[in-house]
Amino acid sequence: MDALTMESITRFQNWPAAISILVLTSFAVLVIHHARRPSFSKGAPRFFDAGNWPIIGALRFWTDRLNFVNQGIHSSPSGNFSFYFGKNQIVGVSGPEGRKTFFESKDLRLAEGYEVLFATQPAIPDDAYKGEMAFDKWFQRTIIGQTRKETFARNLPLFINDTRESLERMVARAGNPGLMDPFDDLYKIIYQLTVRIVGATEIANDPKLRAKTLGLFETIAGASSPTRIIFPWLPTPAYIRKNLAGARLYYELNKLVEDRKKTGRRENDTLQYFIDTDEPIIRSLTFILGALFAGQLNSGITVGGVLISLAWHPEWYKKVQEEVDGVIAKHRKTPDQSAIDILSTLSIDEYTDAFPLIDLCFREEIRFQMVGTAFRKNVSGRGVPVGNAGDIIPKDAYVIYPMDDVHFNPEYYPHPEEWDPSRYFPVEGKDQPPYLGWGTGRHPCLGMKFAKLEMSIIGALFVAMFDYSLTDVKGNPLAAAPPKDRSGHSSERPKTPLRLKYTLRKH
Ligand code: HEM
Ligand SMILES: *[C@@H]1O[C@H](CO)[C@@H](O)[C@H](O)[C@H]1NC(C)=O
Ligand SMILES: *[C@@H]1O[C@H](CO)[C@@H](O)[C@H](O)[C@H]1NC(C)=O
Ligand SMILES: *[C@@H]1O[C@H](CO)[C@@H](O)[C@H](O)[C@H]1NC(C)=O
Ligand SMILES: *[C@@H]1O[C@H](CO)[C@@H](O)[C@H](O)[C@H]1NC(C)=O
Repeated sequence: MDALTMESITRFQNWPAAISILVLTSFAVLVIHHARRPSFSKGAPRFFDAGNWPIIGALRFWTDRLNFVNQGIHSSPSGNFSFYFGKNQIVGVSGPEGRKTFFESKDLRLAEGYEVLFATQPAIPDDAYKGEMAFDKWFQRTIIGQTRKETFARNLPLFINDTRESLERMVARAGNPGLMDPFDDLYKIIYQLTVRIVGATEIANDPKLRAKTLGLFETIAGASSPTRIIFPWLPTPAYIRKNLAGARLYYELNKLVEDRKKTGRRENDTLQYFIDTDEPIIRSLTFILGALFAGQLNSGITVGGVLISLAWHPEWYKKVQEEVDGVIAKHRKTPDQSAIDILSTLSIDEYTDAFPLIDLCFREEIRFQMVGTAFRKNVSGRGVPVGNAGDIIPKDAYVIYPMDDVHFNPEYYPHPEEWDPSRYFPVEGKDQPPYLGWGTGRHPCLGMKFAKLEMSIIGALFVAMFDYSLTDVKGNPLAAAPPKDRSGHSSERPKTPLRLKYTLRKH
């Protein structure tokens, strides 16, 4: 804008109008700039044009994901299809070949796929992906380093104490018999255990700080919005909320670091590792948030989900209770030990091996909880290949793979809508069906052992402490949980709230 226009604007004291014009013009320029989306290269799978809007692209990918993806798959003879979401080119793949490419191709990067299309994680600067210490490599290495068996062994008594204390506090609050919400009470226990491992001891030990930081994390996790993906330059309210929550977490973490430095107090945790290795606070925070994204939602929802499913599958509930009671009987040293005292004496290896049925139930529950798609981006940047080996994912395009392509495929999982852990019982001469619950190929879940340990501890303690049944929020008995809505984007609490009605067991 030149000086003359500037002057005329100020002279006519016409600020509000001038600003509106400026904003609208910039908006139009940005939108027009944005509308120029790259066209799909030759070899890309068939374009699926249902609901393809100018500029916005396929809004149904957001609002009606499951149906949109299924229709895309069926619209294309190869089972692969392509579409736009905002300016992003996206390829949906399916079937054994598509799955193999998705999980095994070196061209496809996980972090950038989730960062852009899942869009809840903190943004990572572009250059963070290059070089020796690329952010994703550093993140993986740090997770592996901080989740070793010795760390679990050292924390096991704390994990058990955390779980026991929380359940006892719950009884003190809600009575006996009482009603509890597994997606709240158990979700919070998962947060406490997770933050012990990937965060800071002070947070794990202090209920107020736990509640505050979990709230901030939830604000960030809930801030995924289609607007942000379609118009990445637009500061949406969700984006602003997310950044404010991030800033407040930064403040809390900084306070802990300063306090440890000032007092010389040390803790044996991930935050101490970051302090000792001079990691900047922002990187430490990005790590902790990333680890919570990977660990909190999945584990927090699935652990509650297993106990709900057991409540309305009595034959499995009975088997699991017998398993837990058997372990308690086996480890009993004196008649006056309580069940929880006995469970407090088990080692890491015992928690890993002694509850195979809880593990099978967990496996089956994950199949149900894992809705939506996994994400990747083709970052290979190589030239267009010669030859024709099936559909090509263009350079810089995003790729999605719907987990239900395997987990709800009757070919692999007969009667997929039935919750039945016995489907994993080994049968001679029969292979296990493909299973993606812990990922596969180049990006297997790095938290599987931790998640299974959390499930065994919380599951065993809960089943040992209580007899329980499924009810609605008012405590009216329910014969079954409503079918899980599979149209979501990630693990989430059921749409209809549920409760467990518990009674303390005597032993
Ligand atoms: C019930 C609990 C969990 C389930 C069902 C689960 C499932 C998965 C799946 C399916 C993937 C692969 C995603 C993909 O291929 O796009 C994955 C990756 C990952 N998970 Fe988990 N996870 C759970 C808990 C955890 C926990 C507790 C942590 C850590 C504290 C964790 C850390 C990770 C990480 C870091 C990756 C990415 C690996 C990479 O970048 O190569 N997960 N998880
Ligand atoms: C931290 O834990 C490790 C074992 O995981 C142990 O070897 C080390 O001595 C502990 N350090 C402190 C300061 O407690
Ligand atoms: C167990 O947890 C409670 C409350 O969270 C705490 O006061 C107590 O010190 C813990 N005990 C141990 C042995 O860590
Ligand atoms: C679908 O896409 C994947 C990934 O590019 C590819 O491996 C597979 O061959 C394609 N399927 C067909 C039938 O073209
Ligand atoms: C990624 O893009 C490059 C360049 O177009 C291409 O050569 C490669 O085959 C693509 N990768 C996949 C897995 O389709």
